[in-house]
Amino acid sequence: MEQIIIANHKMYLNSLQDIDTYIQKLNKHKNQIIVLPQSIYLERFIKNGFTVGTQNVSPEKEGPYTSEISAQAINDIGGKYVLIGHSEVRQNPNKINKEIKEAINNHLKVILCVGENQKEKEHNQTKVIIKQQIKNAINNINEKIIIAYEPNWAIGSNQIPKKEDIQQIVAYIKSLFTYNIQVLYGGSVSIDNIKKLKEMNLDGYLIGQSSTDAEEFLKIIEVVLE
Ligand code: PGA
Repeated sequence: MEQIIIANHKMYLNSLQDIDTYIQKLNKHKNQIIVLPQSIYLERFIKNGFTVGTQNVSPEKEGPYTSEISAQAINDIGGKYVLIGHSEVRQNPNKINKEIKEAINNHLKVILCVGENQKEKEHNQTKVIIKQQIKNAINNINEKIIIAYEPNWAIGSNQIPKKEDIQQIVAYIKSLFTYNIQVLYGGSVSIDNIKKLKEMNLDGYLIGQSSTDAEEFLKIIEVVLE
């Protein structure tokens, strides 16, 4: 199956010059990746033929919500995906459920982040936590979404879970659905561990900081696609 490679730019790459250099370097793989830039740079990527999404979306249709981004507006300018429930912005479960509904109503594809924190891991609660996160997130939702398994403690930490742990959790997430679902891994994916991750037969990767270094990201993409 085709691999899903997502670049979550977070708040890196903070000048048009950096964005244009990045676009130029990644151009040859633009059809194999999904970029989630800072929203002000979405159009720049779209104009250059990249598939893009946002790092968050409002649960509301419109109104007095300073700093929020509407799903309708994302769809209107040509965005295709939206990342929901990232641990850096995750709030209450009800909000996540509303965000997913709003995204789906506006024809956006949802990438839902789930994962346990350090304490939950130590208490062997990973499966319970993930099941609850997914149950709350997709309450009354039947459309297919993509799930990204991102242990909070692995994000930006240069640590990834053991192979058996990732495989077990990914299989567990898939078992929670009656239909086939794509599950990505995210959290400190880098050129140093991508070969090891590739052995795990994942559906793809959600890559933060390493995706913002064009040279490193190109190398990662090439390993994934080879
Ligand atoms: P990281 O971030 O690759 O920098 O750990 C991943 C993410 O938060 O999506």
